[in-house]
Amino acid sequence: MAHIIVVGNEKGGAGKSTVSMHVATALARMGHKVSALDLDLRQRTFGRYTENRAAFLKKAALDLASPHTHSLPEIAPETLKPGENIYDHRLSAAVAELEADNDFILIDCPGSHTRLSQVAHSLADTLITPLNDSFVDFDLLARTDAMGDEILGPSVYSEMVWNARQLRAQAGLTPIDWIVVRNRMGAQRMVNKEKMERAIKNLSKRIGFRIAPGFSERVVFRELFPRGLTLLDLKDIGVKQLNISNVAARQELRDLMKALKLPGVNIDF
Ligand SMILES: Nc1ncnc2c1ncn2[C@@H]1O[C@H](COP(=O)(O)OP(=O)(O)OP(=O)(O)O)[C@@H](O)[C@H]1O
Ligand SMILES: [Mg+2]
Repeated sequence: MAHIIVVGNEKGGAGKSTVSMHVATALARMGHKVSALDLDLRQRTFGRYTENRAAFLKKAALDLASPHTHSLPEIAPETLKPGENIYDHRLSAAVAELEADNDFILIDCPGSHTRLSQVAHSLADTLITPLNDSFVDFDLLARTDAMGDEILGPSVYSEMVWNARQLRAQAGLTPIDWIVVRNRMGAQRMVNKEKMERAIKNLSKRIGFRIAPGFSERVVFRELFPRGLTLLDLKDIGVKQLNISNVAARQELRDLMKALKLPGVNIDF
């Protein structure tokens, strides 16, 4: 049975699709069979990312390991049981079809609260939540006091994850391994960065998630999309020498992959 990785955060622009593409491609390059579902049915950033990759690789006559994106199957409304939600059905049908034939299914969620995203969270064996280093983004996980030091209580997104955890427990499924990944970190030591670090550590103990090192703010993450590439592919497309920033970014990805502790994954890139 495939291990299901959900990448979610109701906050838009946290880096879900960027993290999704890098994690899925890293796993595919390590020889794992990876399928992906993009639940942002409107923006389709992840789907577009893999389409760009297929087009670029075809044009360059390259054959690089890649995740495969699948669409949710269409379901005829008359086949639904009374009270059954069509989106739940489409998602579970997609997962059921992919489960037997893949090592991993990666699900990229939209940056808003949708029914599809909510159901996906209850399917997660591993949940990755990228988080920008900002108290505006932190506010979806927990409320803090005016200084950002004291946690006052969980917030909407954490409550949604808590519900997903309850649903899994009731169904006798393994608990979700929830990992919060700090994204777009600045290079300098800043008061905000340190405050965020303290707040996240504090919260991780309160609501039960692990913290993984994420990606620094780097322009390369914004440039790879049109060719559908990840940091791992640069050498294969003929880049002879990676610059210092790209080498550091690769190391960040390696550290993230290690921290995820996915079953059967040995980090060898
Ligand atoms: N580490 C990074 N350094 C620089 N830019 C980044 C980094 N991570 C993400 N970005 C950029 O930030 C923007 C948002 O990233 P992305 O689309 O991955 O987020 P998202 O959480 O999937 O957004 P949405 O909620 O809209 O689905 C994009 O322009 C992306 O290229
Ligand atoms: Mg996205």
